[in-house]
Amino acid sequence: MAEGIVPEKTRRVAVVGARGRMGAPLIRHLLARGHEVLPLTREDLDLAHPGEVIRRRLAAEDFEVLVNTSAMTSVDDCERDPAYARVVNADAARELAVACREKGARMIQISTDFVFDGKSSQPYAEGDATGPINVYGETKLRGEEAVLDCSSANLVVRVSWVYGPDKAGFPCWIVEKALRTPELRIPHDKYGSPTSSESFAHSLENVLMHPGAKGILHLSDRGVASWWEFGRTILEIAAEAGYSVKTITPEQGALADLTHLAARRPPYSALDVGRYEALTGRVVPHWREALARFVFSRPWDYPLSRP
Ligand SMILES: NC(=O)c1ccc[n+]([C@@H]2O[C@H](COP(=O)([O-])OP(=O)(O)OC[C@H]3O[C@@H](n4cnc5c(N)ncnc54)[C@H](OP(=O)(O)O)[C@@H]3O)[C@@H](O)[C@H]2O)c1
Repeated sequence: MAEGIVPEKTRRVAVVGARGRMGAPLIRHLLARGHEVLPLTREDLDLAHPGEVIRRRLAAEDFEVLVNTSAMTSVDDCERDPAYARVVNADAARELAVACREKGARMIQISTDFVFDGKSSQPYAEGDATGPINVYGETKLRGEEAVLDCSSANLVVRVSWVYGPDKAGFPCWIVEKALRTPELRIPHDKYGSPTSSESFAHSLENVLMHPGAKGILHLSDRGVASWWEFGRTILEIAAEAGYSVKTITPEQGALADLTHLAARRPPYSALDVGRYEALTGRVVPHWREALARFVFSRPWDYPLSRP
């Protein structure tokens, strides 16, 4: 069983997006903690065609809480195909919430820091005004509203900058590149809260059926980093962990340099986790601590400079 307190009660949890960066570690964590899990992949539940079919499929299953980690997560693809993004990120979320209500189950919708416009200079709290600046953020916000409108027992959990062992992401990309070349350039003017998918899974368990966890909750690892600082820290830790990276100090670029991207990104989207910590009495790990745990677990098959 994973570290931490023994759950007060084991739960029957459905996880939609079972193969995703977040869904997969969440399922591993919940199983290790003794909960019963119903994993739902795209083959089980195709969210591109929401409607009766979702309700019929879920009516046959037995669960108390459903966590929806699925989404159209490519921010640029959403910009190119807003109609499809709306179907998966908003319409399907609504159908899932209706299906949960019909069963008397609670729904937790995973959402994003991209619902904000990024003009803040301090971590966003749950009550701060939203103002998405791209289709991804806008459709995810519609999904949040649909899920919350459906039942006052539901919860929206916003997270930011997630990485983990189940899918290649920024840490993987930057280490792989730094093994080949010292020439790296990362924007220094974009800020967020880097979050390990494994520490997120751990933290989320504490609010699965928490009676006070309703409405919106921000949940990321603690602290704020610029994209450049995140990159440099990954490389520093990778070098310490024995990877033969050719630099640990990337050049500082700017968000405006990324002219190839279809969607605009909010420049600042760190999250304030104060409500989560007050509610659960649990302090989330600092992003550096969670990142070091991840990199030292040597998730990549890259050459090491020492055995
Ligand atoms: N990653 C981040 O940095 C980040 C930051 C903030 C918020 N979030 C939110 O966190 C949640 C999880 O993200 P993630 O990083 O785990 O993304 P991910 O790895 O892309 O996982 C998304 C999951 O959604 C599933 N999915 C997509 N379209 C589907 C469809 N039409 N029918 C059924 N399933 C479909 C995918 O299935 P397949 O495996 O079959 O493709 C995948 O398992 C999302 O709600 C995202 O908006 C992520």
